Amino acid sequence: MKRILGTGLLCFALILLLAVNGYSEGGAKVQPPPKAKTIKELAERYDSSKCMECHEEAHEQWSNSLHARSILGTPRTAPTIITAVDKGLKNFAFSGVKEDKDLKVEHLMLCAKCHLPQLDEATDEVAQEIVATIRAWQKAGKDGDEDKAEKLEETIASLNIGCMVCHNKVALIHKYADGYPQPDTVYGALDGDHDSEEFPKMAVAPAMRESILCGQCHGLGPNLELEHPSQCATLYGSYLFAYVAHGGSETCQECHMVKSGLGHDIQAYKDEAMIAMAVDVKVEGRSLFWRKNKEDGVVPIGVIDVELYNKTGHVIPDG
Ligand code: HEC
Ligand code: HEC
Ligand code: HEC
Ligand code: HEC
Ligand code: HEC
Repeated sequence: MKRILGTGLLCFALILLLAVNGYSEGGAKVQPPPKAKTIKELAERYDSSKCMECHEEAHEQWSNSLHARSILGTPRTAPTIITAVDKGLKNFAFSGVKEDKDLKVEHLMLCAKCHLPQLDEATDEVAQEIVATIRAWQKAGKDGDEDKAEKLEETIASLNIGCMVCHNKVALIHKYADGYPQPDTVYGALDGDHDSEEFPKMAVAPAMRESILCGQCHGLGPNLELEHPSQCATLYGSYLFAYVAHGGSETCQECHMVKSGLGHDIQAYKDEAMIAMAVDVKVEGRSLFWRKNKEDGVVPIGVIDVELYNKTGHVIPDG
């Protein structure tokens, strides 16, 4: 009897599961949008200011995060992309890159896989324009032309991990089961109509609150699927293999967005709240006299014992 009940419950659970999946959060694979031909076009397609009037708080928080300038960085990322081009790509015998004009989207994907995943929706000319813009920005900085440097910096920062990257492009992970992101839909925790002309629908992204959403860009190790694997962030690997494997149960979102109180201003060591959550420090000190040797005799020494306990969900620092 118990067994029959068990089987019945299992069937019920399966039906529920099917029903939930049956809602079809995503949909069939869609024709990719026409390739953006300029930085401006690509930036407009993913412009987060479209969401600002109704999601003011999320927008304000996000604007302060590094996601809002993910190829400019602190601004250390943009110059490092140039180093990767000049010291890497141009020196590799089989990369096909001798000059900037040889650069293709595929080459910049070494970095853009995580720093700007929507670059796969642009032409090779956009990859070249990005590199030219960073070079011009570096030159304007060196020449002391602050106005020009500032303008170019804005152009570089207009390419970023905006709202529609997380809430559409990378929102659905298991596409065979959950479907492919649809161009008229924002993905989050709700489904139904969405009060926006460009994106009139809302649908559920099952992994939006799971660490794997962030893990897509925060690195497991070398990016082995690329023609020439690169390695930058590896923090998601450390989260899975050191934290979760030892019983850690919090998600990236719980620590970085909820507990921190920072919401979309996803931060790390640059923020006081995160610093306070990072480590427990225990320091014990004592002083004593120590007979060192015959020549020096008895000398005063201090013994300081420092214990650091990492309370985050991964190694620090990363990268
Ligand atoms: C004209 C107003 C308006 C605009 C513009 C708008 N939204 Fe919304 N959005 C809403 C409202 C209102 C809700 C909440 C619906 C509810 O609570 O029933 C919502 C809900 C959402 C949700 C689901 C929230 C959840 O709890 O998971 C997401 C995600 C979202 N919007 C993202 C965006 C993004 C991204 C943009 C820009 C491309 C955008 N919205 C533009 C009004 C808007
Ligand atoms: C697997 C995804 C991934 C790839 C591929 C990747 N990065 Fe990163 N990178 C990140 C993430 C995530 C961070 C920030 C978090 C961290 O440091 O853990 C980061 C941080 C950085 C930083 C420091 C950030 C700052 O603002 O100071 C630099 C510089 C950088 N990346 C450059 C590059 C360059 C150049 C490439 C290509 C050669 C590249 N990355 C490839 C994910 C990646
Ligand atoms: C790095 C990925 C990422 C980016 C970029 C991002 N979001 Fe979110 N967003 C999330 C996640 C994850 C959640 C769920 C948070 C949670 O666990 O409470 C969320 C939740 C939301 C919600 C539901 C209500 C809330 O605030 O929790 C809205 C609305 C929303 N985002 C809008 C936006 C808008 C508008 C932007 C751009 C200004 C944006 N998001 C950028 C990941 C992102
Ligand atoms: C589409 C790729 C992508 C996704 C998805 C993503 N990130 Fe990031 N994140 C990055 C990149 C790239 C950077 C570094 C930008 C830079 O400085 O160059 C970054 C920066 C950060 C930083 C700041 C690190 C520092 O050194 O200050 C934190 C914290 C962070 N991300 C956490 C998260 C969390 C939590 C999520 C999930 C809710 C998430 N990210 C989702 C790509 C991503
Ligand atoms: C238990 C809470 C907790 C969890 C879970 C967690 N983090 Fe963190 N994370 C922190 C704290 C606190 C810091 C700040 C560390 C510091 O001040 O040096 C941090 C720092 C970071 C940094 C900056 C690393 C650096 O270079 O110093 C990144 C990026 C980041 N987290 C991303 C993530 C992502 C992605 C996940 C999920 C895979 C995640 N975190 C899970 C608490 C957490």
